[in-house]
Amino acid sequence: MSVHTEVKKVTTNTLLKMKAAGERISMLTAYDYSFARLFDAAGIDVILVGDSASNVMAGHETTVPITIEQMIYHAQSVVRGIDRCLVVVDLPFGTYQSNPDIALASAIRVMKETGGHSIKLEGGEEVVESIRRIVRAGIPVMGHLGLTPQSIYKFGTYTVRAKEEEEAEKLRKDALLLQEAGCFAIVLEKIPAQLAKEVSESLHIPTIGIGAGKFCDGQVLVMHDMLGINNDFNPRFLRKYLNMHDQVIAAVQHYIEDVRSHDFPNEQEQY
Ligand code: KIV
Repeated sequence: MSVHTEVKKVTTNTLLKMKAAGERISMLTAYDYSFARLFDAAGIDVILVGDSASNVMAGHETTVPITIEQMIYHAQSVVRGIDRCLVVVDLPFGTYQSNPDIALASAIRVMKETGGHSIKLEGGEEVVESIRRIVRAGIPVMGHLGLTPQSIYKFGTYTVRAKEEEEAEKLRKDALLLQEAGCFAIVLEKIPAQLAKEVSESLHIPTIGIGAGKFCDGQVLVMHDMLGINNDFNPRFLRKYLNMHDQVIAAVQHYIEDVRSHDFPNEQEQY
Protein backbone atom coordinates (compact mmCIF):
# COMPACT_ATOMS: atom_id res chain seq x y z
CA MET A 1 0.00 0.00 0.00
CA SER A 2 1.42 3.38 -0.91
CA VAL A 3 1.14 6.15 1.63
CA HIS A 4 0.20 9.42 -0.01
CA THR A 5 0.66 12.47 2.19
CA GLU A 6 -1.62 15.35 1.21
CA VAL A 7 0.14 18.70 1.06
CA LYS A 8 -2.16 21.45 2.28
CA LYS A 9 -1.71 24.16 -0.33
CA VAL A 10 -1.87 27.84 0.50
CA THR A 11 -4.56 29.59 -1.55
CA THR A 12 -5.88 33.13 -1.66
CA ASN A 13 -8.70 31.90 0.63
CA THR A 14 -6.14 30.66 3.13
CA LEU A 15 -4.77 34.19 3.35
CA LEU A 16 -8.23 35.66 3.92
CA LYS A 17 -8.84 33.11 6.69
CA MET A 18 -5.45 33.88 8.22
CA LYS A 19 -6.35 37.55 8.42
CA ALA A 20 -9.73 36.76 9.97
CA ALA A 21 -8.00 34.53 12.55
CA GLY A 22 -5.32 37.13 13.31
CA GLU A 23 -2.53 34.88 11.96
CA ARG A 24 0.35 36.74 10.33
CA ILE A 25 1.24 35.94 6.69
CA SER A 26 4.90 35.40 5.68
CA MET A 27 5.98 36.26 2.16
CA LEU A 28 9.43 36.37 0.53
CA THR A 29 10.59 37.01 -2.98
CA ALA A 30 12.30 34.26 -4.98
CA TYR A 31 13.37 34.09 -8.58
CA ASP A 32 14.71 30.58 -9.13
CA TYR A 33 14.01 26.89 -8.54
CA SER A 34 16.58 26.21 -5.79
CA PHE A 35 15.63 29.06 -3.44
CA ALA A 36 11.90 28.50 -4.09
CA ARG A 37 12.41 24.87 -2.99
CA LEU A 38 14.17 25.97 0.20
CA PHE A 39 11.57 28.61 1.09
CA ASP A 40 8.67 26.24 0.40
CA ALA A 41 10.34 23.54 2.53
CA ALA A 42 10.79 26.10 5.32
CA GLY A 43 7.02 26.73 5.29
CA ILE A 44 6.73 30.18 3.74
CA ASP A 45 3.09 31.09 2.97
CA VAL A 46 3.66 33.10 -0.22
CA ILE A 47 6.50 33.45 -2.72
CA LEU A 48 6.50 36.65 -4.74
CA VAL A 49 8.31 36.46 -8.06
CA GLY A 50 9.01 40.16 -7.79
CA ASP A 51 10.09 42.46 -10.56
CA SER A 52 12.87 43.26 -8.07
CA ALA A 53 14.51 40.49 -10.15
CA SER A 54 15.45 43.46 -12.33
CA ASN A 55 17.66 44.73 -9.49
CA VAL A 56 18.89 41.66 -7.66
CA MET A 57 19.12 39.15 -10.51
CA ALA A 58 19.93 41.36 -13.50
CA GLY A 59 21.77 44.23 -11.79
CA HIS A 60 19.59 47.06 -13.10
CA GLU A 61 19.20 50.19 -11.02
CA THR A 62 15.37 50.08 -11.18
CA THR A 63 12.55 47.63 -11.88
CA VAL A 64 11.65 49.45 -15.09
CA PRO A 65 13.73 47.46 -17.63
CA ILE A 66 12.65 43.89 -16.82
CA THR A 67 10.54 42.29 -19.56
CA ILE A 68 7.54 39.97 -19.38
CA GLU A 69 9.63 37.19 -20.98
CA GLN A 70 12.23 37.52 -18.20
CA MET A 71 9.52 37.50 -15.51
CA ILE A 72 8.00 34.40 -17.09
CA TYR A 73 11.38 32.63 -17.01
CA HIS A 74 11.84 33.43 -13.29
CA ALA A 75 8.27 32.44 -12.45
CA GLN A 76 8.49 29.12 -14.32
CA SER A 77 11.66 28.28 -12.37
CA VAL A 78 10.03 29.15 -9.02
CA VAL A 79 6.87 27.15 -9.75
CA ARG A 80 8.97 24.02 -10.43
CA GLY A 81 10.41 24.34 -6.92
CA ILE A 82 7.25 24.53 -4.82
CA ASP A 83 4.65 22.09 -3.49
CA ARG A 84 2.71 24.12 -1.04
CA CYS A 85 3.03 27.91 -1.02
CA LEU A 86 1.06 30.44 -3.08
CA VAL A 87 3.04 31.97 -5.97
CA VAL A 88 2.39 35.59 -6.93
CA VAL A 89 4.02 36.94 -10.11
CA ASP A 90 4.63 40.65 -10.71
CA LEU A 91 3.39 42.13 -13.98
CA PRO A 92 6.38 44.21 -15.11
CA PHE A 93 6.32 47.89 -16.06
CA GLY A 94 4.65 48.57 -19.41
CA THR A 95 2.55 45.41 -19.52
CA TYR A 96 -0.64 46.74 -17.87
CA GLN A 97 -0.62 50.53 -17.59
CA SER A 98 -1.91 51.37 -21.08
CA ASN A 99 -5.38 49.85 -20.92
CA PRO A 100 -7.44 47.00 -19.41
CA ASP A 101 -7.26 44.84 -22.58
CA ILE A 102 -3.47 44.89 -22.54
CA ALA A 103 -3.43 44.31 -18.78
CA LEU A 104 -5.71 41.29 -19.14
CA ALA A 105 -3.63 39.87 -22.02
CA SER A 106 -0.45 40.21 -19.90
CA ALA A 107 -2.05 38.57 -16.88
CA ILE A 108 -3.39 35.68 -18.99
CA ARG A 109 0.03 35.17 -20.58
CA VAL A 110 1.75 35.04 -17.18
CA MET A 111 -0.81 32.58 -15.79
CA LYS A 112 -0.74 30.27 -18.84
CA GLU A 113 3.03 30.22 -19.31
CA THR A 114 4.23 30.08 -15.69
CA GLY A 115 1.81 27.98 -13.67
CA GLY A 116 1.82 30.76 -11.03
CA HIS A 117 -1.32 31.22 -8.98
CA SER A 118 -1.86 34.97 -9.13
CA ILE A 119 -0.42 38.25 -10.34
CA LYS A 120 0.53 41.51 -8.65
CA LEU A 121 0.44 45.00 -10.12
CA GLU A 122 1.19 48.46 -8.78
CA GLY A 123 -1.15 51.41 -8.36
CA GLY A 124 -4.58 52.51 -7.17
CA GLU A 125 -7.42 54.25 -8.99
CA GLU A 126 -5.34 54.49 -12.20
CA VAL A 127 -5.32 50.69 -12.63
CA VAL A 128 -8.57 49.73 -10.96
CA GLU A 129 -10.43 49.06 -14.22
CA SER A 130 -7.65 46.69 -15.29
CA ILE A 131 -7.84 44.90 -11.93
CA ARG A 132 -11.61 44.42 -12.41
CA ARG A 133 -11.04 42.92 -15.87
CA ILE A 134 -8.32 40.55 -14.66
CA VAL A 135 -10.35 39.42 -11.63
CA ARG A 136 -13.43 38.88 -13.85
CA ALA A 137 -11.30 36.57 -15.99
CA GLY A 138 -10.69 34.42 -12.90
CA ILE A 139 -7.17 35.56 -12.11
CA PRO A 140 -6.41 36.49 -8.48
CA VAL A 141 -4.79 39.92 -8.15
CA MET A 142 -2.59 41.31 -5.37
CA GLY A 143 -2.44 45.12 -5.28
CA HIS A 144 0.57 47.27 -4.36
CA LEU A 145 0.33 50.79 -2.85
CA GLY A 146 2.64 53.30 -1.20
CA LEU A 147 6.13 53.24 -2.68
CA THR A 148 5.52 51.66 -6.07
CA PRO A 149 9.01 51.19 -7.57
CA GLN A 150 7.82 51.11 -11.19
CA SER A 151 6.97 54.83 -10.72
CA ILE A 152 10.39 55.74 -9.33
CA TYR A 153 10.95 58.39 -11.99
CA LYS A 154 7.71 60.09 -10.93
CA PHE A 155 8.66 60.00 -7.21
CA GLY A 156 12.36 60.77 -7.83
CA THR A 157 13.35 59.03 -4.57
CA TYR A 158 12.82 55.80 -2.61
CA THR A 159 11.88 57.60 0.63
CA VAL A 160 8.77 56.90 2.74
CA ARG A 161 5.48 57.70 0.94
CA ALA A 162 2.17 59.13 2.21
CA LYS A 163 3.61 61.14 5.08
CA GLU A 164 1.47 64.10 3.99
CA GLU A 165 -2.29 63.94 4.56
CA GLU A 166 -3.22 64.37 0.88
CA GLU A 167 -1.23 61.33 -0.22
CA ALA A 168 -2.33 59.35 2.87
CA GLU A 169 -5.99 60.07 2.03
CA LYS A 170 -5.50 58.92 -1.58
CA LEU A 171 -3.88 55.72 -0.29
CA ARG A 172 -6.81 55.01 2.08
CA LYS A 173 -9.27 55.46 -0.81
CA ASP A 174 -7.13 53.41 -3.22
CA ALA A 175 -6.97 50.52 -0.73
CA LEU A 176 -10.78 50.41 -0.52
CA LEU A 177 -11.07 50.65 -4.32
CA LEU A 178 -8.64 47.76 -4.78
CA GLN A 179 -10.61 45.65 -2.29
CA GLU A 180 -13.90 46.47 -4.09
CA ALA A 181 -12.28 45.61 -7.43
CA GLY A 182 -11.57 42.12 -6.09
CA CYS A 183 -7.92 42.12 -4.98
CA PHE A 184 -7.22 39.28 -2.53
CA ALA A 185 -4.42 41.19 -0.75
CA ILE A 186 -2.49 44.46 -0.97
CA VAL A 187 1.23 45.11 -0.51
CA LEU A 188 1.88 48.35 1.41
CA GLU A 189 5.41 49.53 0.76
CA LYS A 190 7.30 52.13 2.82
CA ILE A 191 4.48 54.08 4.46
CA PRO A 192 4.07 55.19 8.10
CA ALA A 193 3.11 52.37 10.48
CA GLN A 194 0.04 54.22 11.78
CA LEU A 195 -1.34 54.69 8.25
CA ALA A 196 -0.72 50.99 7.50
CA LYS A 197 -2.59 50.14 10.72
CA GLU A 198 -5.59 52.24 9.71
CA VAL A 199 -5.65 50.75 6.21
CA SER A 200 -5.26 47.19 7.52
CA GLU A 201 -8.14 47.70 9.95
CA SER A 202 -10.36 49.17 7.23
CA LEU A 203 -10.06 46.11 4.95
CA HIS A 204 -11.22 42.50 5.16
CA ILE A 205 -8.44 41.45 2.73
CA PRO A 206 -4.91 41.17 4.14
CA THR A 207 -2.22 43.82 3.84
CA ILE A 208 1.37 42.65 3.38
CA GLY A 209 3.88 45.24 4.52
CA ILE A 210 7.44 46.08 3.54
CA GLY A 211 8.72 49.01 5.52
CA ALA A 212 5.13 49.60 6.63
CA GLY A 213 5.40 48.54 10.28
CA LYS A 214 4.07 45.87 12.59
CA PHE A 215 0.32 46.29 12.13
CA CYS A 216 0.12 44.83 8.60
CA ASP A 217 -1.46 41.39 8.30
CA GLY A 218 1.73 39.98 6.80
CA GLN A 219 5.28 40.92 5.91
CA VAL A 220 7.38 40.60 2.76
CA LEU A 221 11.11 41.03 2.23
CA VAL A 222 13.33 40.71 -0.80
CA MET A 223 15.31 37.47 -0.31
CA HIS A 224 18.67 39.03 -1.18
CA ASP A 225 18.13 41.66 1.51
CA MET A 226 16.98 39.36 4.34
CA LEU A 227 19.69 36.78 3.60
CA GLY A 228 22.32 39.53 3.66
CA ILE A 229 23.55 38.92 0.12
CA ASN A 230 23.70 42.69 -0.47
CA ASN A 231 25.76 44.38 2.21
CA ASP A 232 25.28 47.84 0.75
CA PHE A 233 21.47 48.02 1.20
CA ASN A 234 20.62 48.76 4.83
CA PRO A 235 17.29 50.54 5.17
CA ARG A 236 15.78 50.89 8.65
CA PHE A 237 12.96 48.42 7.91
CA LEU A 238 15.29 45.56 6.96
CA ARG A 239 16.12 42.73 9.36
CA LYS A 240 18.95 40.52 8.07
CA TYR A 241 18.66 36.86 9.04
CA LEU A 242 22.01 35.82 7.54
CA ASN A 243 25.19 37.49 6.43
CA MET A 244 25.56 35.60 3.17
CA HIS A 245 27.75 38.33 1.75
CA ASP A 246 30.58 37.59 4.22
CA GLN A 247 29.85 33.86 4.45
CA VAL A 248 29.95 33.32 0.68
CA ILE A 249 33.12 35.37 0.27
CA ALA A 250 34.79 33.40 3.09
CA ALA A 251 33.71 30.06 1.59
CA VAL A 252 34.94 30.99 -1.89
CA GLN A 253 38.26 32.25 -0.50
CA HIS A 254 38.65 28.96 1.40
CA TYR A 255 38.01 27.03 -1.84
CA ILE A 256 40.53 29.14 -3.79
CA GLU A 257 43.13 28.49 -1.07
CA ASP A 258 42.44 24.72 -1.15
CA VAL A 259 42.77 24.59 -4.95
CA ARG A 260 45.96 26.64 -4.97
CA SER A 261 47.55 24.62 -2.18
CA HIS A 262 46.69 21.28 -3.92
CA ASP A 263 44.53 20.36 -0.90
CA PHE A 264 41.36 19.97 -3.02
CA PRO A 265 40.53 17.41 -4.26
CA ASN A 266 42.12 14.84 -1.92
CA GLU A 267 42.31 11.01 -2.27
CA GLN A 268 38.72 10.53 -1.07
CA GLU A 269 37.38 13.15 -3.45
CA GLN A 270 38.58 11.49 -6.62
CA TYR A 271 37.74 8.33 -8.65
O1 KIV B 1 9.31 43.25 -6.65
C1 KIV B 1 9.31 43.11 -5.41
O2 KIV B 1 10.21 42.52 -4.81
C2 KIV B 1 8.21 43.70 -4.66
C3 KIV B 1 8.33 43.70 -3.17
C4 KIV B 1 9.23 44.80 -2.74
C5 KIV B 1 7.01 43.79 -2.51
O3 KIV B 1 7.27 44.17 -5.23
